[in-house]
Amino acid sequence: MTTKFVLLVLALVASAACLERIHFQRRTFTREEYNFEKIAKHLRAKHDRAYVPTSEDAYNEGLSDYSNAQYYGPIHIGTPSQKFIVLFDTGSSNLWVPCSNCPLGNIACQMHNKFNCKKSTTCTATGATFEIAYGTGSMKGVVDNDIVCFGNDNTMCTDKTQGLACAESEPGITFVGAKFDGIFGMGWDRISVNNISQPMDQIFANSALCPNQLFAFWLNRDGNDMANGGEITLCDTDPNHYTGDIAWEPLLSEDYWRINLGGVSIDGESYTTGNTDSIVDTGTSLLTGPSSIIKKIQKKIGATPLLNGEYEIACSKIPTLPNITFSLGGKDFVLRGQDYILQLANGNGQTTCLSGFMGLDIQAPGPLWILGDVFIGRFYSVFDHGNRRVGLATSKNSA
Ligand SMILES: *[C@@H]1O[C@H](CO)[C@@H](O)[C@H](O)[C@H]1NC(C)=O
Ligand SMILES: *[C@@H]1O[C@H](CO)[C@@H](O)[C@H](O)[C@H]1NC(C)=O
Repeated sequence: MTTKFVLLVLALVASAACLERIHFQRRTFTREEYNFEKIAKHLRAKHDRAYVPTSEDAYNEGLSDYSNAQYYGPIHIGTPSQKFIVLFDTGSSNLWVPCSNCPLGNIACQMHNKFNCKKSTTCTATGATFEIAYGTGSMKGVVDNDIVCFGNDNTMCTDKTQGLACAESEPGITFVGAKFDGIFGMGWDRISVNNISQPMDQIFANSALCPNQLFAFWLNRDGNDMANGGEITLCDTDPNHYTGDIAWEPLLSEDYWRINLGGVSIDGESYTTGNTDSIVDTGTSLLTGPSSIIKKIQKKIGATPLLNGEYEIACSKIPTLPNITFSLGGKDFVLRGQDYILQLANGNGQTTCLSGFMGLDIQAPGPLWILGDVFIGRFYSVFDHGNRRVGLATSKNSA
């Protein structure tokens, strides 16, 4: 072996220890899977502290409303490890997976991987109950403590004191078909139910394992490369996934990944009046903003209102649509028509095009823009715990 080769091997070993990659699975969505009214209710329940659902809002809250989100991949829990596919959600802060003792009648639970604390030698059943009560539906379960590992190997793991919610009841018929088993919240501990710290905290506390306390999302939008959905990297960024410099914007508060949005403009015309809060939320596919502003944007791009807050546009118009500029971190981030229009297959083999913008008035903390996949798909997004900031750069669409 040459010295060069040994050094190369050492370098590979070193970089493998400092960076974990989780590959996303990928799928396309149909027109029927998009219901803006439902998504709006879900986002209100998730993000608006002033939201009080009425009985008419009785709908099956839970995983089903995450059905348009794309970022899911593997984690392992316990010893020997039990594998789960979870949705990585920067807009919430709890880890939960279905529980092995969920009732037989809970079809959604029966159809997914279930955690069994008794089958893990490192698991402790704390006996504490857990409930995420959004609106009229709720997810109920118990809190177990165990080892949680990211990805497909055992490189990045917590110790066995990590709390997680084992879900016994989880309403939502759509969840039956969900491609993932549970949710992995990657927001801040302040919005964690039961004050359970999120698994990243333990990883970040180990500076030998994780020198950079951050994680980054890359979504592959290359339609010719369907096998590769994208990637989360833990503890480092991957320069192969973006071009230019990363622009940094400090966190406004440690609850959501909340940053200042300097403005939104089209053709040099401003659609906002000064600074406003925005959150970067991988748990939703849309881009939402105050309804009065979004209405003007829909008009400007020539989209036609349908029911439920949805706006349609002729797919043939996509190449002629205006750029929409978001000012963040002192830089301009430009969304093109192909970025902000959702192209959805409908039942008869045709494609429907919907605007990816949705009007949503969030009162507290508000007003608030939610930058979901429409935005994150175009811009590589770095969630930097250590320096309490979010970084954005233009994404490369193929590795
Ligand atoms: C939540 O946990 C943190 C850290 O463990 C602790 O400092 C804080 O007091 C807890 N808050 C509540 C409301 O229990
Ligand atoms: C939109 O922005 C892209 C770069 O992000 C640029 O190449 C294109 O020319 C712009 N289109 C218009 C209509 O300004």
